[in-house]
Amino acid sequence: MLKKPNCDVPLFRREKRLFLSPPHPDGRERELLIQAYESNWITTLGPHVDAFEQGMCEKVGVGHAAALASGTAALHLALVMLGIERGEEVLCSNLTFAATANAIVYCGATPVFIDSNRESWNMDPELLAEELDSCARKGKLPQAAFVVDLYGQCAEYGRIDEVCLKYGVPIIEDAAEAMGATYNGTFAGKFGVMGVFSFNGNKIITTSAGGMLVSDNEEYIKRARFLSTQDRDPAPHYQHSHIGYNYRLSNLLAAVGRGQLERLDEKIARRRAINDFYRNALQDLPGLEFMPEAPYGKSNCWLTVILITPQEFGADREAVRLALEKENIESRPIWKPMHLQPVFKDCRVRGGEVSEDLFERGLCLPSGTQMTDEDLERVVNVLKNSRRRNKS
Ligand SMILES: Cc1ncc(COP(=O)(O)O)c(C=O)c1O
Repeated sequence: MLKKPNCDVPLFRREKRLFLSPPHPDGRERELLIQAYESNWITTLGPHVDAFEQGMCEKVGVGHAAALASGTAALHLALVMLGIERGEEVLCSNLTFAATANAIVYCGATPVFIDSNRESWNMDPELLAEELDSCARKGKLPQAAFVVDLYGQCAEYGRIDEVCLKYGVPIIEDAAEAMGATYNGTFAGKFGVMGVFSFNGNKIITTSAGGMLVSDNEEYIKRARFLSTQDRDPAPHYQHSHIGYNYRLSNLLAAVGRGQLERLDEKIARRRAINDFYRNALQDLPGLEFMPEAPYGKSNCWLTVILITPQEFGADREAVRLALEKENIESRPIWKPMHLQPVFKDCRVRGGEVSEDLFERGLCLPSGTQMTDEDLERVVNVLKNSRRRNKS
C-alpha cells in the first residue's frame, strides 16, 4: 500500500534561481519613473531623455550623446552616419554578440571578422593589421571597423588606432558591455569616431531596452537624433527627404536609466568584488582559468567568465553548465564566434582559432550585482563538486 505523503515536509524544494545578470533597480529609478509618468512626457522626447544623455556625456567624458531604443539601433545609425552602403566591407570583432555584425548587414554591407587575441579576448591588433595590409594590396579597403569591448573589457586601442589610422579606416567602438570600463584611464565609448552602449535587461545598467550613441562629433549625434525620429524635415507638415528610423528612447525608460546611472560606480565595484570572490575561491582548481584582465585597463567585470580545460579539470564546460543548471543556477557558454554562425558562414574571417577555443571552453557565471556571498558560495560549491563528480 502506498504511504500517504507527509504534507508538513515540502515534497520538492528548490533553491532560488541565480541568473546570469538580472536587472537591479536599487536607486531612484522608481521615483524618477513616476515623475516622468506624472509629468505626462510619455513619449520619445522629454526632460529625462535630455538629462540621461547629459549624464552619459559626463560619465563617459564625451561631448554628445543620443539616447536610442537599443544598442543595435545605435550600431546601425553609426554605420548610416558613415555612409556605409551595399557592396562595402566593414571589419568586425569575431567574438561578439550577433547584433554587432547584424548592423553591418542592415546597411547591405558585408562583415569581415577579425579573431581575438589571448591577452584580452578582444580583437587582435596584429590580425587587424594583416587584414588591412591585404585589403590595401587588393585595392579594396573596408569602410569602417566595429571593435567590441568584450564582457566589460576594452580592446587594445593604442595599437588598433594606430593600424586603422594608417589606412584611414574609422573605428566604431561597440562598448555595449563595457559601460564604465577604462583603457589607460579613458572611459569605454571614447575610442573611435563613435561609441555605442546597450541598456538591455542584462547589462550593468539597464532601461529594460535602450542604447546610446556617443561622439565628440556633434554633427553625428544631431544627425542620429533626426534619423532616429523618422528624419522629418523642419516643416509644419510631415515631410521627409531621407529614409528615417523609429529608434528614439522613451522618456519613461530614460528616467529608469538616470536612476541606474547614478549607481554605476557602486555596480562596477560590486561586479569587480564578485569577480574577486570567484577568483579567490576557484583559482587553485586545476584546469580552470579566468578571462584575463589586460594590464592597460580596468574591466567593469560585467560578467565573470571562466575557461575549463576538461582533461585537467575533470569535466568539460557543458558538464559544468548542466551541473549548475541542475542546482537552478544559470550560466552560459561564451558568445559563439561569428565565423561559426550559420548566417555568416560565407563571410571572410582572419584567424578564428582563438575564439573557437574560447567558445569551446568558456562559461559565463552568474554575476548580478544583487548576488550575496551565500549565492556566490552556492555557485562555487557546484563548480567544485562538478569536478569531483566527474573525476571519480
Ligand atoms: C557586444 C554587444 N553589442 C551589441 C549589443 C546589442 O545591444 P541591444 O541588445 O541593446 O540591442 C549587445 C547586447 O545585447 C552586445 O553585447
